[in-house]
Amino acid sequence: MSDINSAIARVEEVGFLDVSIDPSLDLFAEIEKLKKEKNAIILAHYYQEPDIQDVADYIGDSLGLAQQAEKTTADIILFAGVHFMAETAKILNPGKKVLLPDLKAGCSLSDSAPPPLFKAFKEKYPNHKVITYINCSAGMKALSDIICTSSNAEKIVESLPADQPIIFAPDKNLGAYINKKTGRNMVLWNGACMVHEIFSLEKIEKLKIRHPNAKFIAHPECEDAVLAKADYIGSTTGLLNFTKKDSAREFIVATETGILHQMQKMSPDKTFIPAPPNNNCACNDCPHMKLNTLEKVYLALRYEIPEITMDEELRIAAKKPIDLMLKISKQYGL
Ligand code: 13P
Ligand code: SF4
Repeated sequence: MSDINSAIARVEEVGFLDVSIDPSLDLFAEIEKLKKEKNAIILAHYYQEPDIQDVADYIGDSLGLAQQAEKTTADIILFAGVHFMAETAKILNPGKKVLLPDLKAGCSLSDSAPPPLFKAFKEKYPNHKVITYINCSAGMKALSDIICTSSNAEKIVESLPADQPIIFAPDKNLGAYINKKTGRNMVLWNGACMVHEIFSLEKIEKLKIRHPNAKFIAHPECEDAVLAKADYIGSTTGLLNFTKKDSAREFIVATETGILHQMQKMSPDKTFIPAPPNNNCACNDCPHMKLNTLEKVYLALRYEIPEITMDEELRIAAKKPIDLMLKISKQYGL
């Protein structure tokens, strides 16, 4: 731990402001105060820890968060999520100060697609359009024709003519799922999410025997064999809405565990069971998402660091395919 000036100097290296906070401080009240003073909003993904979700002004999936980031009139956006999400907020709303509590909150899926490698791959398919999942860097977005998220991927793919060849990157599981749903034969980049690939089909099947009335629901980043057993497949918002509306009382949930907080809040009388990973670790907690803490949120808001900055040329190139996604989503009422 160090004083604030040396902590600020080390933020690029460490990723966050490494200073101690008075343990008697009511962080919830302090964060509310700072939000008002600075005209700041907190946008949080469902995978954030419960305390962060509870101080957020908006909690959502990747599409909802991008839409909120685009339209906010706040001066500061504190993005409680991972780097590509905060970067997307900055791309869409460059006049705002965008803060990320921990700059090292990355994404294994995004890391699986380095832009120079993808550029070389893309050159092998000159007639293909590139649809890229939002879980990628600004450099990847700049190489894409349209961005998609898990809640609009099917509609985005269907927005292109049936005979249009497509490369889908970086998530091979989401790509394979959309290929199946649409009957397309998109070329898939070989990337995956470390959290959604970890579920054990064998353990899920045993769990289903022990809970015969439970519905099994899964995020489309899961592997095909897991998705084949699901009663419902959807984005985090889709999964949450399903648990609210469905008559089942028990759900086995194959996605990151953070979403269970909202599920339980919205349906306190229902039971939610995290789908088991294929070993005994808490691998269905995203280690990147979970780098953010309430303390880091407080410090980021108080000192307005770490901030997301971006080269303007890259920002403009990355914005084009996101704008197209938002336009198509609007047409479908998403
Ligand atoms: P959605 O927010 O689209 O459900 O995607 C989940 C995810 O893995 C985000 O990192
Ligand atoms: Fe990336 Fe997977 Fe974590 Fe989402 S859950 S941020 S896709 S590693």
